[in-house]
Amino acid sequence: MKRIAVMTSGGDAPGMNAAVRAVARAGLDRDVEVYGIRQAYQGLLAGDMALLSSREVSGILQRGGTVLQTARNEEFKTPQGQRKGKRRLNENGIEGVIVIGGDGSLRGALALHNMGVPAVGIPASIDNDIWGTDTSIGVDTALNTILDAVDRLRDTATSHNRAFVVEVMGRDCGYLAVMAGILGGAEIVVTPENGVTMNEIAVSLEDAYIRGKTHAIAVLAEGAPYQGPELAHYLEQKHIGFEIRLTILGHTQRGGSPTAFDRLLATRMGVYAVDLLLAGETGMMVARVGREQVPVPLAESTAKTRLITPEYFNLARILSR
Ligand code: F6P
Repeated sequence: MKRIAVMTSGGDAPGMNAAVRAVARAGLDRDVEVYGIRQAYQGLLAGDMALLSSREVSGILQRGGTVLQTARNEEFKTPQGQRKGKRRLNENGIEGVIVIGGDGSLRGALALHNMGVPAVGIPASIDNDIWGTDTSIGVDTALNTILDAVDRLRDTATSHNRAFVVEVMGRDCGYLAVMAGILGGAEIVVTPENGVTMNEIAVSLEDAYIRGKTHAIAVLAEGAPYQGPELAHYLEQKHIGFEIRLTILGHTQRGGSPTAFDRLLATRMGVYAVDLLLAGETGMMVARVGREQVPVPLAESTAKTRLITPEYFNLARILSR
């Protein structure tokens, strides 16, 4: 291969830039031109791509977001859109593609592979919901951002004898919520998976009040069966002792400079992805298993759902006493 391309797709995640830089520099080292496709599949369909020189990826290692930008695109989900994407790659002499992104983005990489375009995926999503890999680019940074917020909220909660409902991201997966619960010392965690009711939360927070705690935190995943405002309103009506406040962390969780862990993960995955592509190992996702990078078929990783280990739910429960 003499020319490959890289794109970042789906929700941005801190560390995507470090991965783009690693792909570009590995290309340089292996004597392969690396093109950057702007705005993911939307840019692919528009033929919006250009050579990434080593200098162009200078100074981006520590930056959050993605310099290639990202976009959600419906057209590429159709067979016609996928054929158009393949044509655009051919027109630009691109022989292989690296897609950095979450579940939906990796499905796009699989579609390219199935059409005969060599493609490799790199998992990047703060949700940590991608099957086959221990973790994805952005998870560690987002979790640290959440913990910073939870620590600050506890300071003010204690000063006022308040309970905080903290809503964190995670549309389909409560990983960030459960980890924030364990590591941020929450009284209770609600995720799409654990089916905790609003009444159970009220009982748990009231119990904390009766036991003399000066603060209480309930972490709620965005994909839980009820939203933060509804829960906060419910708790207020219940008069559990604490005054109630609500904080929705929202997209603050997606921004910011990647942690050392995410920079290293992204760097290793980027170089590994280039080597997989050059070795002809197409249709693969780079997975982190233990301390190593391993290839996992995209057909498998995109077909299965990553589950949160039950140990974490258990830890969150034990440590909330
Ligand atoms: O998949 C990452 C994620 O941050 C989810 O946790 C969240 O539900 C979603 O993206 C938000 O998407 P958008 O940025 O399009 O609002």
